[in-house]
Amino acid sequence: MTATDTLLPALRAALGPAGLVTDPDQIGSYLTDWRGAWSGAAAAVVRPGSTAEVAAVLRLCRDAGVAVVPQGGNTGLCGGAVPDASGRQVVLSLGRMRRVRELDPANQTITVEAGAVLQSVQEAAAAAGRLFPLSLGSEGSATIGGTLATNAGGTAVLRYGTMRDLVLGLEVVLPDGRVWHGLRGLRKDNTGYDLKHLFVGAEGTLGVITAAVLKLFPAVRSRATAWVALPGPAAAVELIEVVRALAGDRLTGFEVMSRQSVAFVLAHAAGVRDPFPAPHPWYALVELSDTLPGAGLAEVLETALGEAFDRDLARDAVIGSGSAQVASLWALREGISEAQNAEGPSLKHDVTVPVSRIPEFVERTDRALAAALPGIRVVAYGHVGDGNLHYNLSKPVGSADAAFRARADELARVVYDSTAAFAGSISAEHGIGQAKRDLLADYEDPLELELMRGVKALLDPAGLMNPGKVLPAG
Ligand code: FAD
Ligand code: MLT
Ligand code: ZN
Repeated sequence: MTATDTLLPALRAALGPAGLVTDPDQIGSYLTDWRGAWSGAAAAVVRPGSTAEVAAVLRLCRDAGVAVVPQGGNTGLCGGAVPDASGRQVVLSLGRMRRVRELDPANQTITVEAGAVLQSVQEAAAAAGRLFPLSLGSEGSATIGGTLATNAGGTAVLRYGTMRDLVLGLEVVLPDGRVWHGLRGLRKDNTGYDLKHLFVGAEGTLGVITAAVLKLFPAVRSRATAWVALPGPAAAVELIEVVRALAGDRLTGFEVMSRQSVAFVLAHAAGVRDPFPAPHPWYALVELSDTLPGAGLAEVLETALGEAFDRDLARDAVIGSGSAQVASLWALREGISEAQNAEGPSLKHDVTVPVSRIPEFVERTDRALAAALPGIRVVAYGHVGDGNLHYNLSKPVGSADAAFRARADELARVVYDSTAAFAGSISAEHGIGQAKRDLLADYEDPLELELMRGVKALLDPAGLMNPGKVLPAG
């Protein structure tokens, strides 16, 4: 008799039939990530409906010595929510825990359960005349628990910060089943170590987040968006400064894309078109927003773009008029990830370097990649206002998927060695998961790794919370 033979009846008794999935026909979608890049097997998927049920699951799994893999929307890009191939792990889906527990307009906070989908939280905030600002291409499926566990970023970080900046309190079930009731909605709280930040970005390796208190902001009442053609990445960096000098913190988003990225969207996404008659080497999508209606943002953008044309930072530009045109400009940006999948394997490298060094980084990394694999297509784009580039790669035209995948580790080294040479980070916003776990040993400071291992050993001494993710072996 195996550990799971006794565990499964106990889980069924604790959760009821709605809470346990073992049917192979129903379990499949929990075992493979959104892109199909990672697959695993599981003894069962559990779908607890409350914090008490999450606690019961973790206690039972701890007693049986069975590992647990937390899962939200399964949109993560590093394989963190996918179980290993052993078939002995239990996937814990937060999909039934989606309630808004409280919205406190005066405190500017919303308290939600971890399985709540990001878009539903944005909508709940909007219904109360408030803004929850985190915004990602995956917001229709990604959950609050997943965005916290990966410290997600996205397109509004420049103004509002990452998920770490947006959380005030957490409720967490620890690996032994104890519940930490840290759901405080306080903006000032200096009572010792700030424990919530251990769980943010831990990718489910320290405990299961079951609820969070999140910051709200005043609703945005005016917006202006421009799509700008650029001669190169150096112009992008200068353009940020031009816009920031005029718009201050009304600069909400500054996304930058290479022509290759936009060409993929134009080739594969439905209903998009190039706003300009001729192609350009790079593009920026600039967004300003304000809480005042009629804040004159289009005029601010026009002035900034006028200066950009005078200094040859911009070669063409369009300011979106009306929500349909603005949505079509965003579609050119948000469609890149999906469009790249249509071109075969996309090797993803989510890096940050200091904003000022982006032009030099792009030039050197492009050159090194072209030398390593002639014809390689670099799909560089991202949240350049934060120094964050998605330095994704597609195979040379006409070459085989398998041959390209076989070079993945070697090509990743080229990108990450270059990132390290520019004092950057090999994971800006997607996390480590299983994709970058072994790389941490090479690119992370040994003392930082030692401290992380100490935290893991303290909170999860049996090593049953999402093992094989984040921390390299040893
Ligand atoms: P999952 O994929 O289910 O899980 C991610 C990790 O969190 C796993 O390690 C899992 O074990 C852990 N986890 C999940 N829930 C919990 C919980 N309740 N408690 C503890 N651990 C938990 N990311 C960005 O940062 N910025 C972007 O702009 C962005 N754009 C994207 C665009 C597309 C089209 C796609 C597919 C993904 C994008 N992502 C982006 C990545 C992804 O959406 C985020 O990482 C998101 O935060 C994952 O949320 P999720 O609920 O799907 O988490
Ligand atoms: C994005 O910003 O579109 C994603 O974080 C990047 C990706 O899918 O590689
Ligand atoms: Zn991104």
